[in-house]
Amino acid sequence: MKIIGINGSHRKGKNTAIMLHAVLDEAAALGAETELLELTDYNIKFCVSCNKCLGKPQCSITDDDNTLVGEKLLQADGIVLGSPVYWANVTALMKNFMDRTRWLHMCKNMLAGKVGAAVTIAGLRNGGQEAALRIMEHFLTVQGLYVVDSRNQSAPIMSGGVNGTLFADIKDGKTVWRRSVSEDELTMSDCRQLGRNMVNAINSLLK
Ligand SMILES: Cc1cc2nc3c(=O)[nH]c(=O)nc-3n(C[C@H](O)[C@H](O)[C@H](O)COP(=O)(O)O)c2cc1C
Repeated sequence: MKIIGINGSHRKGKNTAIMLHAVLDEAAALGAETELLELTDYNIKFCVSCNKCLGKPQCSITDDDNTLVGEKLLQADGIVLGSPVYWANVTALMKNFMDRTRWLHMCKNMLAGKVGAAVTIAGLRNGGQEAALRIMEHFLTVQGLYVVDSRNQSAPIMSGGVNGTLFADIKDGKTVWRRSVSEDELTMSDCRQLGRNMVNAINSLLK
């Protein structure tokens, strides 16, 4: 079983990466092979809307890293997307990644049947996390993946991926920020639960 994480943060190794690592490390502890792709490490040009992928399952742009990323997606049983919230949306890096997967979808639904999930982090409470999660989860659903959430049996939460926040408190009129999402045990435990839920879902599908 292989699970890959796609990090759309413009800051490699920061909060979004920490959350994705928590998902992947938990999955690895249950036996999954895992890999985290930092989109900042890959040269992925903008889609030029040539529409050639409507006729053949390939992209006309070949002088960048998009084919390599596509091969990694095809080899995976599970894909977890992570993006910080930028203006109540995903980052431009994540959106560009999504656009360039069109060749995997139009002629043949090549990612269909895999397991997908999403995590996000924002500075503020109600900072747009739900919107960013819905965008990533909608993308995964349209690509034909089975989207799992971070719910465990006893948690009284709505369904959905993991939603982190750096805002911690207001003390003496001053905003207190978490220095890192790793200080937010609830978010980190949700990430670990998401990793377990992905592995369980993939095991059920592989049976
Ligand atoms: C361009 C930009 C737009 C942002 N928009 C929002 C926003 O709409 N709501 C919010 O709560 N935080 C917003 N933030 C804060 C980021 O979501 C936050 O810093 C996040 O932790 C970054 O993740 P990272 O540590 O992986 O880079 C924005 C940050 C940037 C740079």
